[in-house]
Amino acid sequence: MSFYLPDTVNCNGEEFRVLLSEEVLRKRIAELGKQIDEDYKDKKPILIGVLNGAFIFLADLMRCISIPCEVDFYKLSSYGDEKVSSGNVEQRKDIDANIEGRHIILVEDIVDTGLSINYIMNIVEKKNPKSVKVVSLLCKPESIKYHVKVDYIGFEIPPKFVLGYGLDYAQEGRNLAQLYVLKEND
Ligand code: PRP
Repeated sequence: MSFYLPDTVNCNGEEFRVLLSEEVLRKRIAELGKQIDEDYKDKKPILIGVLNGAFIFLADLMRCISIPCEVDFYKLSSYGDEKVSSGNVEQRKDIDANIEGRHIILVEDIVDTGLSINYIMNIVEKKNPKSVKVVSLLCKPESIKYHVKVDYIGFEIPPKFVLGYGLDYAQEGRNLAQLYVLKEND
């Protein structure tokens, strides 16, 4: 439990207000874990986190999953230090696991335009996994530009810039325990 949960924060000179509290996040992530437990009974999936943003969500989600499972990571970057996606995505780190014939769960913090998850899905499918599903803590349905199927969604949110719980603004704010939204956009 975190003991520092401010309602508003300043990050890189911009004001943010809380959008999803620590308690709301915790409850929903527990539900997602339970759902994955049921859907992957006897399957031992590999959870593949998309770094950097997904590291906190993945760590909490994995501890809400009680079936045997493994973990690996891709590292991508599309936003740079800006508040909107650059439209370009680069792979900075490949996975180490052999995923052929395995059940894969791609873990994202947020699906915004869908560019990142669409890009990874194309790479993963070429490696012949037995199945691939996507879990994202957040999804912005109004921002989607690329074809993606997100199988497990924590929360649908409006197309506003969000911060905290792994998500950054120019690399800062990932350590905030709650999810915040930019005040300027309210
Ligand atoms: C963010 C986020 C997702 C992606 C979502 O990553 O973590 O991976 O953008 O946006 P999209 O659906 O428009 O592709 P970012 O590129 O900012 O890197 P980071 O995870 O290191 O913050």
